[in-house]
Amino acid sequence: MTTLPKPRQPELKTALPGPKTASIMERDSQHLSTSYMRPYPFVPDHGEGVWLTDVDGNTMLDFFAGIAVSTTGHAHPHVVKAVQEQITKFTHVCLTDYPQEITTSLAERLVKHVEKPGEKWRVFFSNSGAEAVEAAVKLARNHTGRQHIISTMGSFHGRTYGAITLTGSKTKYKRGFGPLLPAVSHVPYPNPFRPPLGSTAETCGQAVLDHIEGLFVGILPADEVAAIIVEPMQGEGGYIVPPADFLPGLRALCDKYGIMLIFDEVQAGMGRTGKMFSFQHFDVQPDIITSAKGIASGMPLGALLAKESVMTWPVGSHGSTYGGNPVAAAAAHSTLDLLEGKVQHPGCGANLMDNAAQVGEFIMAELKGMQAEFPFLGDVRGRGLFIGLEFVKPDGSPDGALRDRASMAMFERGLLNLDCGEAVIRISPPLILTREEAATGLEIMRETLRTLK
Ligand SMILES: Cc1ncc(COP(=O)(O)O)c(C=O)c1O
Repeated sequence: MTTLPKPRQPELKTALPGPKTASIMERDSQHLSTSYMRPYPFVPDHGEGVWLTDVDGNTMLDFFAGIAVSTTGHAHPHVVKAVQEQITKFTHVCLTDYPQEITTSLAERLVKHVEKPGEKWRVFFSNSGAEAVEAAVKLARNHTGRQHIISTMGSFHGRTYGAITLTGSKTKYKRGFGPLLPAVSHVPYPNPFRPPLGSTAETCGQAVLDHIEGLFVGILPADEVAAIIVEPMQGEGGYIVPPADFLPGLRALCDKYGIMLIFDEVQAGMGRTGKMFSFQHFDVQPDIITSAKGIASGMPLGALLAKESVMTWPVGSHGSTYGGNPVAAAAAHSTLDLLEGKVQHPGCGANLMDNAAQVGEFIMAELKGMQAEFPFLGDVRGRGLFIGLEFVKPDGSPDGALRDRASMAMFERGLLNLDCGEAVIRISPPLILTREEAATGLEIMRETLRTLK
């Protein structure tokens, strides 16, 4: 085990947006795709740990990590070294045709986190989360010989055709793009704060399970369903943790009807919730897992993990030119070193998963404490450093407008953050966040919320 030297602590400095930022944003608006959103005037120049400095020298505290991606923060020396070493060896050969030791050993490391005695798993590598999701759907259809896929409302699975079809969070992802993939249905997600189907926080998991079985009676033949895909903790939909009985219930239902259970761990996985995969907070095992985002600290990599008994697609039936790229794989190895504690990040305890659990608990407790002062903070929820803060109107309905104001005001005070759901701010910082850095972020949040009262 190696311990790295303590990183320098940059000073928070905000005078946004500076002249260089404004100029780049103007050029960006002239030449880049009209589909890109530009909610915050910030153009990064370099990063260091949980801090990002823009082209004008403003330094911000990063509480969103490029949408839950930068697991090890910015420019982590261990990750940088691994990438540099690999890039001087070779950058590409094509994993579809040739094995590479660096991806073989990465697969061996990844499956160790999900394999149970007597149950072997295999890995397919992609470049992104959406590609991993596409692969999961193809595999489930190919393996079962069935077509239909059930997904959840509020979900997000990516931007490719299959993935937008499965996605259930915003209509703008689909408007004008049809026709989409056939044979996909959506069922409610059991959100304990806003229980669907007339249920309660306690009964919403069972209510959704009953709803699915109801579909099988009158609408959808269960023996035509290939898979149910679900985020074990919903990300884009609002950082929602389902009730404890939901995922095991889904497993039982899938077993009853011979349906594949796919857990999309792209956002909540890779240590973010305090365990390697978020489903590991529940007593359940899926058939297929999709991963990406945090897996390689920002290098493009996705992975589909599947039970060997399920990964039955034939030779040549699926592949990718870049998927499992050796440089991204090097970044993933070094990320795993820090997540598993093979290499220790100073000030973050034994490993980054434990750190996420502990610092996340501290943030949750502080935010829950703030609810008394700020009645518009309707719900504080999550696990580890996967935390959602839901803004509500006096009648309890979601207050998206207030959330937007809060998000921008926090940004202006130096806190990079991002919205999700209808009225939620997601807190998804790098997993190297220390308690002191968390306290700095919380102070910015508290000051901001006072101005909104
Ligand atoms: C749960 C989930 N699945 C899939 C994706 C798509 O990943 P990517 O943007 O890498 O294609 C995302 C992205 O936000 C996600 O949150």
